Amino acid sequence: MITIAIDGPAAAGKGTLSRRIAEEYGFHHLDTGLTYRATAKALLDAGLPLDDEAVAEKMARDVELAGLDRSMLSAHAIGEAASKIAVMPAVRRALVGAQRGFSLKEPGTVLDGRDIGTVVCPDATVKLYVTASPEVRAKRRYDEIIAGGGAADYAAIFKDVRRRDERDMGRADSPLRPAEDAHLLDTSEMGIEAAFQAAKALIDAALKKI
Ligand code: C5P
Repeated sequence: MITIAIDGPAAAGKGTLSRRIAEEYGFHHLDTGLTYRATAKALLDAGLPLDDEAVAEKMARDVELAGLDRSMLSAHAIGEAASKIAVMPAVRRALVGAQRGFSLKEPGTVLDGRDIGTVVCPDATVKLYVTASPEVRAKRRYDEIIAGGGAADYAAIFKDVRRRDERDMGRADSPLRPAEDAHLLDTSEMGIEAAFQAAKALIDAALKKI
């Protein structure tokens, strides 16, 4: 069983990269951010508070991994709410349990998130920490929204990226940080194809060793 752990901050390009990698190796892929987003959306839809840990834990336990769909969970308000409930240890315990179960699938899995290499799959076959400067990440998100025909404000997006970083890196339980044995991949100056080739070289080297 092979596990590829991909962590990094918001809008670093983890999602696209992870999907490409899963496709290349024929592995199952789980975007773990969606598990936090689905929990947050369930609370928002039910009109429940975002600061009641017991209620949020119950919603987290009800999340079905098979039904996760980013297009239903991409709203900005859902991302914000997700990062708020992601500070709660009981929510994390519930979701990490489900994520670990997923990581056991054969022939292998790719999980992307914030704490895969440090907490969810500390024994992963390969760990990548994908990052880019906050300016580049904000610009990518801005371009994405414009390309989709929406209206975007770069300054607001930049502020948002910084706030999300602070919350994800500053929380007490499972803060975002590279695992000691993670390979750092800074994509600030790289397109998706170059990032994919760099990731593939690291993964191929690790797979040769097992
Ligand atoms: O990656 P995405 O933006 O969809 O994640 C939404 C939020 O879920 C993140 O800002 C983070 O707070 C939380 N998250 C997490 N651990 C993960 C994945 C996401 O805490 N493994």
